[in-house]
Amino acid sequence: MKTTRYEIRDRRYENIRCVILAAGLGTRMNTNLPKALHKIGNEMMLERLIETVKSSGISHIVVVVGYGSEQVEDILKKYNINTIRQNKLLGSADAVKAAKRYFTKFTGSLLVLYTDTPLIRKATLKGLINRHRRSGAACTLLAADVNSPTGYGRVIRDSSGDIVKIVEEKDATVHEKDMTQINVGAYCFKRKELFDVLARIKKNPKKGEFYLTDIIKHFRDRGMPISSYDKCSEEEALGINSREDLSAAEKIIRMRKIKQLMEGGVTFIDPETAYIDKKVKIAKDTVVYPSVVIQGEVIIGKNCRIGPFAKIRGKTEIDRNCVIGNFVEVVRSKIGENTKVKHHVYLGDAYVGNDVNIGAGAITANYDGKRKNRTTIKSRAFIGVGAILIAPVKIGEQAVVGAGSVVTKNKDVPDKATVIGVPARVLRKK
Ligand code: UD1
Ligand code: CA
Repeated sequence: MKTTRYEIRDRRYENIRCVILAAGLGTRMNTNLPKALHKIGNEMMLERLIETVKSSGISHIVVVVGYGSEQVEDILKKYNINTIRQNKLLGSADAVKAAKRYFTKFTGSLLVLYTDTPLIRKATLKGLINRHRRSGAACTLLAADVNSPTGYGRVIRDSSGDIVKIVEEKDATVHEKDMTQINVGAYCFKRKELFDVLARIKKNPKKGEFYLTDIIKHFRDRGMPISSYDKCSEEEALGINSREDLSAAEKIIRMRKIKQLMEGGVTFIDPETAYIDKKVKIAKDTVVYPSVVIQGEVIIGKNCRIGPFAKIRGKTEIDRNCVIGNFVEVVRSKIGENTKVKHHVYLGDAYVGNDVNIGAGAITANYDGKRKNRTTIKSRAFIGVGAILIAPVKIGEQAVVGAGSVVTKNKDVPDKATVIGVPARVLRKK
């Protein structure tokens, strides 16, 4: 019988299940919104992590919720993921314990992740899992060698390099604080060993919480093997505990996307000021000028010029050889090839054909107070400076709308006609 690649992948990870801890309060964020729901690159931290886990081939995920549990559960509905409530926020070890009943009959290993470490890459998760399988250890933890370890738990090893314990910043000695290998907060545990030893963890006297990290020294004391996967970059290891961390993560994600687009042949005059969402696609030889924001699902063809100072929003497709110039906003629109929209324009819910010229300051009035309406501008039409097109309305092929005209709704302009005035009237038909 033939086996597809997908089936092979699935079978490889069928004895790995994932627990994501997302109950924490996010005190240092100073927020009323559960930390897991804060966004990075227009995507909630928790959603990003779930996508990464799923894309690495693990389909069974349980999320531990606590602070703002209803809100988090609401978001998770569409993922068909089980949630479990941690009633009192007694620390990361207690959070894992809360998930125990989900796995009573399960004989494989658990991948435990923190929702506030959302930048981990799929390849790193796979590396961690594969190391765990090969090592046969009770626990394999993800470690990162970093330049700035402050705030993180340090991985403490003995002279032969074996892991002895993880010590949290608050409990670390001066010597331990000098260690630059940190605990990223991603672990693979054999299920039985995890829950047996978890029960032995005692409350940390300083913070009054049960630390999952304390499990390491219990494993060590019992002679149970501990292994680690160390190939995690400092970037991926970033833990989001404050608004400052959140903006650092935002920048990392942003630069990852821009790098990927540049590799695909897109020029960025100033990558530092380009804000491009994950789902955006841009074809080669398009040039993005400074201060451009592109959000949601947007597709841009080849050889376009975008910006400076342009905002292109979701559900927009721009065909090749177009110019979207300064102070132009486009949303939910389709723009055909060779079309020029160079200055101070708003296009919302517009279908624009090929070779159209839209003059400075032209506006589609797409919203009538109740609903959004469509404007159609057919190929080779010319929209004069400052024209207002009140949707729903259609501008015919090769039609001309005079400067300052207001084309009122449903007063469609015939092909090749010229209209002027307020309200716009037909001046001549070719
Ligand atoms: C934790 C690790 C630390 C590591 C760092 C990486 C512990 C004790 N320490 O520290 O070694 O270097 O992450 O970023 O684990 N949570 C719950 N319920 C709780 C408490 C926490 O679900 O009662 C969740 C949080 O939502 C978060 C995760 O556990 O996703 C980690 O908790 P947090 O308080 O952020 O731990 P750190 O101090 O950052
Ligand atoms: Ca944290």
